[in-house]
Amino acid sequence: SKILVMHGPNLNMLGTREPEIYGSTTLADINAMLEAQAAEAGVETEFFQSNHEGALIDKIQQAPLNGTDFIILNAGAFTHYSIALRDAIASVAVPVIEVHISNVHTREEFRHKSVIAPVAMGQILGFGTDSYAAAMYTAIRKLKARA
Ligand code: DQA
Repeated sequence: SKILVMHGPNLNMLGTREPEIYGSTTLADINAMLEAQAAEAGVETEFFQSNHEGALIDKIQQAPLNGTDFIILNAGAFTHYSIALRDAIASVAVPVIEVHISNVHTREEFRHKSVIAPVAMGQILGFGTDSYAAAMYTAIRKLKARA
């Protein structure tokens, strides 16, 4: 079984991007942590980051075709307004866990709304990079329960 971890725009800048909000951990560090976590459970991982809405949509459309069982998605700012990304998620049967590093509800009003939440299995947010670890934990548990 395979879990796809997707990161949207500006998440390639983690480590140096607004560290007071997002911390100093790099995206490579996060991916390495998640890969180890999944490997321990015998689950394969794939990682994808793009700053481009269409590239993220293409990746979601391909997920059911390449054996992806679960998607962990931090869509970055697209979370708040990309109906196209939401529709892509709705178009595939692969469950999506929405992740955010920061607690978007304590921040600007425009971050309070997620257009992808209604088509996601659930949201995990506000725990720093542990949000990803909690999402991976959950995805692994759901996969094992399915088997
Ligand atoms: C984010 C929150 C979004 O509002 C923001 O645009 C990001 C990162 C987070 O992980 O906290 O790019 O998704």
